[in-house]
Amino acid sequence: MTRPIPRSTFRSCHLYRPTACRTAAPNNTPRCTRRRIVLCQDHSTDPQIAVLDSHSASDGLARRGVLFAGIGISVAMLTDLSAGSAQAANISTVFVAGASGATGRRVVQELRKRGLKVRAGVRDVEKARSNGLQVDDKVELVTADVTQGPESLLSAIGDAQAIISAIGFNGGADSKGYEAIDNKGNCNLVDAAKQKGISRFVLMSSLLTNGAAVGQRFNPGYIILNLFGNVLVQKLESEKYLRSSGLQWTIVRPGGLSNKPAAEVGNLIVGKEDTLFGRPSDPGKDISRDLVAAVLVEAVLQLSASNKVVEIVSSQNAPQLPPDQWFSSL
Ligand SMILES: NC(=O)c1ccc[n+]([C@@H]2O[C@H](COP(=O)([O-])OP(=O)(O)OC[C@H]3O[C@@H](n4cnc5c(N)ncnc54)[C@H](OP(=O)(O)O)[C@@H]3O)[C@@H](O)[C@H]2O)c1
Repeated sequence: MTRPIPRSTFRSCHLYRPTACRTAAPNNTPRCTRRRIVLCQDHSTDPQIAVLDSHSASDGLARRGVLFAGIGISVAMLTDLSAGSAQAANISTVFVAGASGATGRRVVQELRKRGLKVRAGVRDVEKARSNGLQVDDKVELVTADVTQGPESLLSAIGDAQAIISAIGFNGGADSKGYEAIDNKGNCNLVDAAKQKGISRFVLMSSLLTNGAAVGQRFNPGYIILNLFGNVLVQKLESEKYLRSSGLQWTIVRPGGLSNKPAAEVGNLIVGKEDTLFGRPSDPGKDISRDLVAAVLVEAVLQLSASNKVVEIVSSQNAPQLPPDQWFSSL
């Protein structure tokens, strides 16, 4: 989500020119890509770097979503869940952390489409209710702030057999926010899941979390996203924590999230761990939140998703992939 931020938030800003801008063309005129980035530092004692698109900096400055801006157009159609997979996974109720978020609320809807009961974890139950999150009486809104420690999450998880975490720091210019929520908040959820004997844990993470280890340290996406409070580094920590938890886990790493329907953004492309990096040479970089929600839910239900990292983007050129093939080849 792109949020306008007043210029007064920042102490100083300067224009960052991507590498292409520094390369002299044959006539010695510097070549620049159209997209330029403004780096700003705020007024806090623990300086926060914000990455801003200079082309949207007229009244306010827009942050977040820079890496994956520019949504592809294509047609995709979600096919139905293979019958009986909920029973096969022995799951009837799913706890969704971050259920009020742009992806989380879609996860709630996907779960209900499949007849599963939902415990929708939110920080503000009344706000979530007034925003229509409780689509029917099989959705129970429960208070869950992941920064309050694992014990506080136990009653929210209740009798759920599985957890989907779609949380993410959305609090603006707090450089510690990603550590507190995307990292430690998810670790708190993992600890609570262990205490509850939860059988499946699906974590929504991001492409490029492991970029530094797999030759993507200089990928502009890796650099730029980490300027937001080291978000990818923080997410990687929670991935590692989940992987070593002993739980049955799936880590879903999507590319840039779009609110447009999958039919407009593209058909699903699924990649193994550390194979999709959002580069121009990759098969896609964006994906509809609707499709991400479907993948998160299928990852709970399909045993073939267990203990796998699933990287997902989409493209109009990709063939439609039936859900029962989403994880089996990984
Ligand atoms: N934007 C992208 O292109 C992109 C790409 C790949 C991955 N991702 C990641 O995907 C995830 C979901 O993204 P999104 O855009 O759908 O998220 P979003 O709309 O920003 O929603 C974030 C959710 O996290 C919740 N949350 C924040 N702090 C919390 C806390 N302390 N305790 C419990 N819940 C808390 C929010 O609850 P409230 O409603 O109470 O604030 C909200 O429900 C994020 O982790 C994001 O970093 C994003």
